Amino acid sequence: MELNPKNIPDYIHEQLEIGVFSADAEIAAEEIGDGNLNFVFRVYDVNEPSNSIVLKHAPPYIKILGPSYELTPDRLTYESRALEVYNRLVPEYSPNQIYFHPQNYVIAMEDLKDYHILRFDLIEGMVNPRISEHIARFMAITHSRTHAHNLRSDEAESYASRFDNHVMQGITADYVFTKPFINDPTNFYTEGLESQVGTLKGDQQLLSQIDHLKKIFLTSKQGLTHGDLHTGSVMVRGDSAKVIDSEFVFYGPVGFDMGLYWANYLLSYFSHVESTPVRTKLKTAIQRAWEIYEAEFEMDDGDRKAEVLKRIFHESVGFTGMEMMRRLIGAAHVRDIEGIKDIAKKLAVEIATLEFGSKLVKNHHEIGTMPEFMTYLESNSSGGL
Ligand SMILES: Nc1ncnc2c1ncn2[C@@H]1O[C@H](COP(=O)(O)OP(=O)(O)O)[C@@H](O)[C@H]1O
Ligand SMILES: [Mg+2]
Repeated sequence: MELNPKNIPDYIHEQLEIGVFSADAEIAAEEIGDGNLNFVFRVYDVNEPSNSIVLKHAPPYIKILGPSYELTPDRLTYESRALEVYNRLVPEYSPNQIYFHPQNYVIAMEDLKDYHILRFDLIEGMVNPRISEHIARFMAITHSRTHAHNLRSDEAESYASRFDNHVMQGITADYVFTKPFINDPTNFYTEGLESQVGTLKGDQQLLSQIDHLKKIFLTSKQGLTHGDLHTGSVMVRGDSAKVIDSEFVFYGPVGFDMGLYWANYLLSYFSHVESTPVRTKLKTAIQRAWEIYEAEFEMDDGDRKAEVLKRIFHESVGFTGMEMMRRLIGAAHVRDIEGIKDIAKKLAVEIATLEFGSKLVKNHHEIGTMPEFMTYLESNSSGGL
């Protein structure tokens, strides 16, 4: 079964469990997803359009590439499991899951009406530190309440097996840690970056730290990790923020979430090269995220907590560097930088960003506090400009 706007009205009337629409309601659906992997539809009552839900449906392939690019639809089963946990632990930061159909791979969830993707605000230079506070709380609570040090070993193992999402974890490992640094047909980058890319690929110190981080990514079992927490996975409205798109969720190194979040603020930071006020706000948002994360991360033993947070900080810095680099030279780029029309400026921004990302990866063992991180940024972010 593959959902489309034509067959959705019948589907809704068959799936009584959804329970949102009356039996005689006239239903319409439109595709709203701008995502790459799955179909996302807004479904509403024609006579009362404010009564709406969102359906997310995973076909057994990658949506934008077509049916010959197979990918297990189980990714939606993991997304549904993540939504269950998020709805329980942080209902204010996740869309409410109304229903999941395991055979059809369909999630029905709350329609985040009037919300939009956070990335677009950052591109416009609109930075609200409250959003970082919310996302930091989302991370602190979901990471600490599922953290192996806060659970009995059987409880931690149960999370690890419910979230053993190894296919999606493998895809991330390939596209973040491996492919960007070898010759792979999915890589692309701006003309003029060849020599920088060549330097990265030959930098043994960098490659060994990438290996080290990749190993942590694949083997460390700390807590429930969203796995794709970039600024395109956050929807905002005013001061409110919700985290979506958890199909890459796994039980792993939780710093991967903070790393992706910081990295996407930093990609925006590097793109806003001529605006000091925007850069200052982006830096504040990054600092605020850690401040709140530290405060909200729950662990009774203070010494243990300090030790756990120190590790998370170092790993977050390393993952930040990885995400920054792969968004410039791998298969998936970000609009913050792709949208720069002046090619000379774009190239200069990319050179500075790549250099900074690579330095973070190489030095993540040395950068252990937010002031150190910010000092490092200030002394390394003007290169080439
Ligand atoms: N609950 C929701 N309410 C409103 N819009 C949503 C909701 N979930 C997703 N969207 C929209 O659909 C887009 C794609 O959803 P996403 O979960 O990221 O799909 P994919 O996994 O295919 O990338 C999002 O960028 C957002 O614009
Ligand atoms: Mg997705």
